[in-house]
This record gives sequence, C-alpha cells and structure tokens, in this order.
Amino acid sequence: MKTTLKIKNKKADIQNYYRNRGIHLINDDVLNQYDKWENPVVIISDGPYGIGGYKGDFKTFEELPEFYEPHIKKWSEKSSPITTLWFWNTEVGWATIHPLLVKYGWKFVNCHVWNKGIGHIAGNVNGKSIRKFPIVTEVCVQYTKEPYFTIGETKMTMREWLKYEWSRTGLPFSKTNEVCGVKDAATRKYFTQSWLWYIPPVDAFYKIQRYANKYGDKNGRPFFSVDSKRPINKKEWLKYRSIFNYKHGITNVWHEPTVNGKERLRNGYKSLHLNQKPIKLMDIIISSSSNVGDIIWEPFGGLCSGILSAAGLNRKGYACEIEKEIYNFAVKRLTNYFNELKLFP
Ligand SMILES: C[S@@+](CC[C@H](N)C(=O)[O-])C[C@H]1O[C@@H](n2cnc3c(N)ncnc32)[C@H](O)[C@@H]1O
Repeated sequence: MKTTLKIKNKKADIQNYYRNRGIHLINDDVLNQYDKWENPVVIISDGPYGIGGYKGDFKTFEELPEFYEPHIKKWSEKSSPITTLWFWNTEVGWATIHPLLVKYGWKFVNCHVWNKGIGHIAGNVNGKSIRKFPIVTEVCVQYTKEPYFTIGETKMTMREWLKYEWSRTGLPFSKTNEVCGVKDAATRKYFTQSWLWYIPPVDAFYKIQRYANKYGDKNGRPFFSVDSKRPINKKEWLKYRSIFNYKHGITNVWHEPTVNGKERLRNGYKSLHLNQKPIKLMDIIISSSSNVGDIIWEPFGGLCSGILSAAGLNRKGYACEIEKEIYNFAVKRLTNYFNELKLFP
C-alpha cells in the first residue's frame, strides 16, 4: 500500500468529520463519540504512553490510569465476546493499565513485543550517562471479552454454563462424546472445568444443543438458551467467540523497524507524528482478528494507520483525533489513499 503524503498547505482546515467507503474520522475527544459508533469487532488502542512521546502525551506512566479508565469502561459497554482489543503501550504503561482492563471484563490473551531493532537507538545512546540498557520495544497486547451467562442471580463463565446446562438435561456427560463423534474430546475439552477447557466449535456446539433439546429432561427445555424461549443457533454461537485467523510464521515477537522511507509521513525533514505505527503491524492485528466488512475502532487516531489498514483490508472503521493539525494530516493521508484507489481501482 502506497502511503506517501504530500503536504501542500500545512494549515489546511478540513472540517471536523471525514467519511469515505465506510471509514469515518472525527476531530474530537473520542469520549464524545463512542456512543455514536457501530459496535466494534476490533479496537486498536494506541493512546498515551506516559513518556512525553508526542504533543499531549503524559509525562509519567502513573498518570495513565485516570486517563484510560473512562475509555476502557466505554469499550467494555460497546463490545461483545466477538471483540478483540489490541492495547499498544510501553511495557510499564501496559502493566499499569492491565488491572483496569481486567476490572472491566477484558481477558488477557497474548503480549506481542514489537522489536524495532538496534537502528532505533543508533547514535542516540550515551554509554557514560545511561543507567540501563536502551529500549527498542513496545508492546501490543491482545485482549478479548469473556462471555458471561446469567442464571437467576448467578453470573457464570461460558465454561461453567456449558456444564450447568448439560447437567440439567439429566443425561450422562459421556453422551456428549458420542454426540460429537469423538472418543473423549468433548468431555475432556468442552465440559472440563480445568485450564484445558476450550469453547466448542460451532458444529460441535450445535450437535450438543440439538441432542440436549431432543433427549434431555422435557421439563428443563430449552437447553443452551439465553432467553429461555429457544436454544442458541449456529449464527449466534459464532458471536460468543472472538475471531482469530491464524497465519503461519507470525509469533509474539514482531521484528520491524520504526516507520521510515516512503511510509514515514513528514513535513520537510520533520516527522508528522513520532508515534506513527507501521501499516504492516496494523495489517497483522486487523486481518487476524476480523473479517471483511467488520467494524474497526481506532479511538486515538494520530495519523490513523489503523483505519488506513482497515480500509486496505476492506473493513469499516471509526477513528478520532483530538488535535486539529494531526487530524488534518490524517484526513489528507486517507484522501490520498482513496484517490489512488480511484486511479488504480
Ligand atoms: C500514539 S498516537 C497514535 C498514533 C497512530 N497509531 C499512528 O499510527 O499514527 C495517539 C494519538 O491520540 C490522540 N488522542 C489522545 N487523546 C485523545 C482523545 N481523548 N480523543 C481523541 N484522540 C486522542 C493524540 O493527539 C495522538 O495523536
């Protein structure tokens, strides 16, 4: 994807709302916008780091929780178990925010380390004064939303609920293996309460649900239902699980230099935004956790590498940028991208 930006008029004022092919960018504090956006399949948070890294960043990581809490609260309200959150930060920034994410129902999945390589610090280290080894990493941490089921007053995890529902049928658990056509995988994986548990794939769930509702205790039906009227169907079951499109060869360490060359957006020699993320990394997180047409949120847009990647991958997206000047640059970047598409559709 070509992302070079030519800036003719730095001060150009391009309204405060940009929209093109399902991509939306707003110049505002994102806290005013969350309620207006369609619910996300992916949230990319690349907000304050607490290192004074760009205009508006906090000076210390201790200031981050107060800033992030209202955002995390909103992400939780608007998300569902299909949503994946990618939280970019420094290691200590993430460690500081992790308890808040857990408090609002986000479940840690994986920590990805972005290794920018030795080039990141070349010529910038004074060995006589530095008191630690130089930092060339950031983290991008993957979270999902744990689904909960409420039975009367009791809130259950999916693991607990599956077991509870089958036990209500009055049928032996061993029957679930037969129903799924496996030796012991159903009892070992879908109904265990240990860490070996994992969510039944849609076909397995459907077989279990159908059998339970056909042969289970007549007085307890429907089983595997959330409204006590009808059981969860295949399409609904898919929404209880975040998307993960595995790609061979990608690990949790991403060796990628900081953005440079044509991709780095500059005004003269000066970078437009010190925190511009590589499109390549945005492509990895978006393509692995969403499908074509899905909604991507980038609340702290900057130059909007996230929704630019979303556009390239045929997703829809919402982004916000609070600084008017940065917003204008991001609009130009998106405009250039869509104009090139028109020339080379
Ligand atoms: C780390 S940068 C994002 C860089 C971006 N990922 C990129 O590749 O260009 C964070 C951006 O979020 C913006 N920001 C901070 N707080 C915001 C808020 N409450 N609403 C909207 N934007 C915000 C900042 O002005 C800054 O440009």
